[in-house]
Amino acid sequence: MKKTPLLIVEDDETQARILAEYLAHKGFEVDKAYSVAEAKKHLAQKPFDIILLDWRLPDQDGLTFLTELKREKPLTQVIMLTAFATVERAVEAIKRGAYHYLTKPVNLEELLLIIEKALKELRLQKEVELLKATVAELSEPQITDIVAESAGMKEVLRLAAKVAQTDATVLILGESGTGKEVLANLIYRASPRAKKPFLKINCAAIPEGLLESELFGHERGAFTGADRAKPGLFELAHEGTLFLDEIGDLPLPLQAKLLRVLQDGTIRRVGGLKEIRVDVRILAATNKDLEEMVNKGAFREDLFWRLNVFTLKIPPLRERREDIWPLARFFLQKFAHKHHKTIRDFSREALEALLSYHFPGNVRELENIIERAVILAENEVITKEDLPFLMQEPRGEPSSLLENLPLPEAVAYLEKQRIKKAMKEAHGVKTRAAEMLGISERVLRYKLAKYGLEEP
Ligand SMILES: Nc1ncnc2c1ncn2[C@@H]1O[C@H](COP(=O)(O)OP(=O)(O)OP(=O)(O)O)[C@@H](O)[C@H]1O
Ligand SMILES: [Mg+2]
Repeated sequence: MKKTPLLIVEDDETQARILAEYLAHKGFEVDKAYSVAEAKKHLAQKPFDIILLDWRLPDQDGLTFLTELKREKPLTQVIMLTAFATVERAVEAIKRGAYHYLTKPVNLEELLLIIEKALKELRLQKEVELLKATVAELSEPQITDIVAESAGMKEVLRLAAKVAQTDATVLILGESGTGKEVLANLIYRASPRAKKPFLKINCAAIPEGLLESELFGHERGAFTGADRAKPGLFELAHEGTLFLDEIGDLPLPLQAKLLRVLQDGTIRRVGGLKEIRVDVRILAATNKDLEEMVNKGAFREDLFWRLNVFTLKIPPLRERREDIWPLARFFLQKFAHKHHKTIRDFSREALEALLSYHFPGNVRELENIIERAVILAENEVITKEDLPFLMQEPRGEPSSLLENLPLPEAVAYLEKQRIKKAMKEAHGVKTRAAEMLGISERVLRYKLAKYGLEEP
């Protein structure tokens, strides 16, 4: 592995030697300079990631040199060393861009820890600079609402752009919150049907009893309450596009009906006999493993093959970490605008926390985290404290209150609290919250609506 270049600028030869020997032993490529002039010669020859800089040097004071250094090589991490420690000095050094400030005699182990930390941050900083450059180069003004910087996402978009030109059924797969709906929107907008209707239905959110009539419509008197005939989404989407979201939650009887539309392009309203021709392009999405559902008999194999003509799989965010930073910036701008706040950036710690988080709730979780951070932020920079997933959560059940309530209300109260807590901990990701609560997502959605806990 390539050694990290490190420069020691220190006029006390013994000090310089002790530091140099220790750090060389720890695997650094060490150079020594006894004055600012010598240091400049070294710097002209090669870049250094780390510089240990003495406060007092024979030809110039270290602080002035520090200012110069940070101006010319902002990515160099400078650690100041001094024999006379004062708070003012430390503050002054940090203000001028020093990474850290240590008093002599230097504790070598402490120094090593600080250097390692500085290097870690430097790497992050470099990655960010690189990403920023790429983003600036590649950002396409016409597609402003989908961020795709990782190779994985770019490939998905490339394929999406191609299939958009056709009438082929597209099956969009990916974990919850990865952006399946965003992609469906994009395909629609890029398709020749862009001027025709685009209708969406979430098969998981609608009670099974209503779903059939939503999709296929019904005739008057088809069931109690059907006092007039109503066209379904397939008819309404005629010549356009229909997005069947959460297709994995489509009950088996409806799967059979859907198969029929896909095969011969006709539907029959509930309670009706007439065959109605529809010309609809289908986009479908699910976070379920359809193949496994087929194996278990929960999803029709013939329908699966009909849907699986052209599949786009969106990778989870943790497998395309290059997107985290551009997405975070994108959401920062979006929510700063929405909440009328002037926020320019993330602090280094905040960014580091974001980049090292695993985002089980994918892009939606990131989006929720940033919106909360924007709301919480006290100044122009989002700090680690603004990121709720790192915050402590104060809790305590008001048990006496519960004991005094009538049982149904106590149960409702408890249920509501638990759901709120789970939703908070899951950052609004319903599948995750449902999992935490040990209930199905469908039940969770129902309860959220029942208790008015739905986000707006
Ligand atoms: N690439 C992206 N660029 C910008 N925003 C994105 C991107 N991907 C997702 N989002 C945003 O993240 C949120 C979740 O995306 P979306 O609803 O499309 O996910 P999903 O895969 O359909 O999730 P679910 O399975 O839970 O329905 C949305 O607010 C969306 O705008
Ligand atoms: Mg979705």
